[in-house]
Amino acid sequence: MTAPTSTPTSTPRVTKAVVPAAGLGTRFLPATKALPKEMLPVVDRPAIQYVVEEAVRAGLTDVLMITGRGKRPLEDHFDRNVELEHALEAKGDDAKLAAVRHSSELATVHYVRQGDAKGLGHAVLAAAPHVGHEPFAVLLGDDLIDERDQLLEQMVAVQQERGGSVVALMEVPHESISMYGCAAVEGSGDVVRITGLVEKPPVDEAPSDLAIIGRYVLSPGIFDILRTIPPGRGGEYQLTDAIQAQIASEPVHGVVFRGRRYDTGDRLDYLKACVLLASERDDLGPPLLAWLRELVAERA
Ligand code: G1P
Repeated sequence: MTAPTSTPTSTPRVTKAVVPAAGLGTRFLPATKALPKEMLPVVDRPAIQYVVEEAVRAGLTDVLMITGRGKRPLEDHFDRNVELEHALEAKGDDAKLAAVRHSSELATVHYVRQGDAKGLGHAVLAAAPHVGHEPFAVLLGDDLIDERDQLLEQMVAVQQERGGSVVALMEVPHESISMYGCAAVEGSGDVVRITGLVEKPPVDEAPSDLAIIGRYVLSPGIFDILRTIPPGRGGEYQLTDAIQAQIASEPVHGVVFRGRRYDTGDRLDYLKACVLLASERDDLGPPLLAWLRELVAERA
């Protein structure tokens, strides 16, 4: 008989998710002049809803969004819209009523403003009073993880077993590594020990092709480090630099993700994500694919 795996009493449970959402979304202007980029629809749900649903699937129902100017639509989206609910009720449109209620019932969503936009590390530090002394997850909205892949669940499990912090990694083409935080690692397989991290290194200085994708489970010790690190790449306070500094005092592991990740951070990748996800839907997939075949044949 194998001994039950118990959580060390020194490792509190992970219950909170932090979602930085203060970015300006300049890559999508003018669409994002008056609309937060997190509200851009991916098929028929705003991108941010996928992220909150992912956190909830991993058991994290306390979500803190780090926002800023012009982000009120996020608050409205995760709140009730009683007038709309009444109108849908009166029409007997149960499916849409359920969809409208769903986003307000998903999680307990809290908001804090970042103030100055001084980088991802600065945004995460704004979560310190809410998070307290527990490990917590950080989910970046530009990366969507397919709901069939259980990346965050696995990261939480690794954090509970091994303590410290856990970062999601994914192998990317060598020439793309300078767009990401990059990890030097020890070991192979799905869970590796991280020995070094560098934010957006030049391609010829990158220690590997393992990129940080936007999922982290961090020990609360990261906050003290974030308070003391100097600005890094681009003059911004980098989360990558803080986790690199944490390696000296706590274990830092990487979970190497080999599943489906959709980048919604730039226009082409966003369009691909929309088409791909719609093509897999029962209601939209068949007519969309038929039309795409025709379009491609016509334009070829
Ligand atoms: C941020 C992080 C970077 C990470 C990336 C993942 O960069 O700083 O380490 O690889 O997210 O999407 P950003 O894309 O916000 O510039």
